[in-house]
Amino acid sequence: MIDSPITQVGRWKEAAAPHLPLIDVSQAAPTYPPARELRDHIAAVAQSVATATYTDQQGILPLREGLARSLTVDYDAPVAAESVAVTAGCNQAFCLAMMALTEPGDEVLLPLPSYFNHDMWLRSQDVAPVYLEPGPDMTPDPAEAAAAITDRTRAIVLVTPNNPTGAVYPPALIESFFELARRRGLALVIDETYREFRDDSEPPHTLFSRPDWSDTLIHLYSFSKAYCMAGYRIGCMATNPGLLRETLKIADCVALCPSHIGQLAATFCLEHLDDWKREYRRTVRDRVAYAARRLREAKTGFQVVSSGGYFVYLRHPFTDRSSASVGRSLAEDHGILCLAGSMFGPGQDRYLRLAFANVDLPAIDELVTRLGRIG
Ligand SMILES: Cc1ncc(COP(=O)(O)O)c(C=O)c1O
Repeated sequence: MIDSPITQVGRWKEAAAPHLPLIDVSQAAPTYPPARELRDHIAAVAQSVATATYTDQQGILPLREGLARSLTVDYDAPVAAESVAVTAGCNQAFCLAMMALTEPGDEVLLPLPSYFNHDMWLRSQDVAPVYLEPGPDMTPDPAEAAAAITDRTRAIVLVTPNNPTGAVYPPALIESFFELARRRGLALVIDETYREFRDDSEPPHTLFSRPDWSDTLIHLYSFSKAYCMAGYRIGCMATNPGLLRETLKIADCVALCPSHIGQLAATFCLEHLDDWKREYRRTVRDRVAYAARRLREAKTGFQVVSSGGYFVYLRHPFTDRSSASVGRSLAEDHGILCLAGSMFGPGQDRYLRLAFANVDLPAIDELVTRLGRIG
């Protein structure tokens, strides 16, 4: 397997220009502090010895009920707690679902550019990622997906809002992928880690209102971004109870259950932190919108291709250089740490991913100034 791109970029960071304050737009892991109330709550519950025990594999009931309620509200459709399992982060949910669904030699459709951990996990399982080319708006085409399906295909994976492009897939497009997956007997996996960071207040899609949603859909979510609690390692999966049961057999061998204290933290978030989440979401959305606008206006030569979630996806101006070479020299010569497009799959060498969870508006201005000196 490749080194994780985050490890690779760690090496660029070590070599970053010493004479300039580093502008780190590489990581999608928030360093924004989690809510004070959450930290106080955890300090208090940590005193209870009960928090040192394993929990039910599927997750503690108050959390599953809270998740079912929040899905019901956010998607305006009833979701039951029995359709939800808590996982040790959204990445684990993806790995468990893929292990339950595939065997070596199978294929999974991944739209490009694709989230690198999905690609790495599939390859580690000897499952072939079959890539779908992005359209001009960085969304995949269901017709291309239909043509790519073989008798080894087991699933289609969508990430919306997307990492790395930030593109938000319209509900109608998501419906088309659901219909395709349903007709062809595949799973449709939708990673909605960044769902809170959309501009739209409408539900991201209407799939949960279909009576048969759970036969096809595997919905994945993370507490890492929306509540800035990545280190607590809590995510979730919603799908049919039969598939959940298979995934829990695997989870049992891996982590037994998600962290107990992390689950208590997530339960607290759902019960008490709606206002805090709204405020944090506004901060991130303002930063991303500001960065995209400033970069467009400044005409630096680095062109905004798409933006959303935590991200701006940029096309760099160098036709004869790889994205890794451009990324490395941005760090070494200009004190800008970002990810190279090639880390998100083939054909992405003209692009760079910038994440804005951890930089404020003055840092964004400085970033635009530095890029303007290059392009
Ligand atoms: C699309 C996507 N899914 C999952 C994750 C990881 O989530 P978690 O921390 O819950 O494992 C990330 C983190 O960057 C991500 O971008």
